[in-house]
Amino acid sequence: LFSLLAVMMVFLSGCGEEYISALKPSGEVGKEQLNLLLLTTGIMTLVVVIVSVIYLLAFVKFRRAKVGENVIPKQVEGSHTLEVIWTVIPIILLLIIAVPVVTATYKFADVAAMDEVDENGNKTALTVNVTAKLYWWEFEYPNQGIVTAQELVVPTGQKVYFNLKAADVKHSFWIPAVGGKMDTNVENLNKFYLVFDKESKDLKDGVFYGKCAELCGPSHALMDFKVKSLSPEAFDAWVVSMKATEGQTADKASTDLGEATFANSCLACHAVSGVGGTGGVGPNLTTFGDRNRVAGFLEHTEENLQAWIKDPGQYKPGNLMLNPDGTAPIYGDLSDEEIQALATYIMGLSVEK
Ligand code: CUA
Repeated sequence: LFSLLAVMMVFLSGCGEEYISALKPSGEVGKEQLNLLLLTTGIMTLVVVIVSVIYLLAFVKFRRAKVGENVIPKQVEGSHTLEVIWTVIPIILLLIIAVPVVTATYKFADVAAMDEVDENGNKTALTVNVTAKLYWWEFEYPNQGIVTAQELVVPTGQKVYFNLKAADVKHSFWIPAVGGKMDTNVENLNKFYLVFDKESKDLKDGVFYGKCAELCGPSHALMDFKVKSLSPEAFDAWVVSMKATEGQTADKASTDLGEATFANSCLACHAVSGVGGTGGVGPNLTTFGDRNRVAGFLEHTEENLQAWIKDPGQYKPGNLMLNPDGTAPIYGDLSDEEIQALATYIMGLSVEK
């Protein structure tokens, strides 16, 4: 038991980081969830301790050596007082847990403000439509007309409303340090809001980590996304820069080969604002160069992007860039020269550089 606890300590010690820890929450939802966690864990611990103590006391007090080898202690059969006590106490404890938990559940699911409009009839709340797909995340900002993927960008200090759904199988949307998790289903929308009260730029990698929290297939553990929380001003600037990509065509660093290879091999599944593609099959790659990770979890380098394009199955088994038999990428074998040019082109899709 001791070794098991020791191993658990090692694992739990990894949970202390602000970019991913539910124990160091950022924002009112995460903080309230932590309070509920502490309340329920506290009450459960109390019950375990009290029951164990009673058990041990009975064990010692009524042990055979004390009452005598051949004496059977007084047998109690039915006690109304005891029965009332052990019925009423759990009811009280469950109420202490249930009231705040149910209250919080309804509070975070209150998304009525999502439909509020200003005098011009435009919706005022910041809403993000999240679609979970095998094994990536699409983020659409319907009121801003922006679609992106794998990197959620939000402003701090206000409620961000989420419409969550899945395109294929059940997933679950979780930003451990900020709140959730909330399942994404194929057949219905789940809605809730989160509040980000900390800019992510000071965190490790400058982002909060987001995870898929529902076992969904061979690459479930790799179905990550990242969250950039910006000051409201920086967020507005991000929206403007994303809108500006609509007029953007090829970027500076790209070559004709990269652009042509992208058009021939990638645009059927991936969209890029200003370049083309309807997207939806694969992640939208607008401003990919500004993102934090390749494929959601690999370090954001051109080398990793080349390696990913060359053999995506090596990194994310079962992903949709592969043929149905899970082998070669559906765009066929590209030459090294084409892959290099392609990676340079995709990394050049940027508004920050
Ligand atoms: Cu998607 Cu696990």
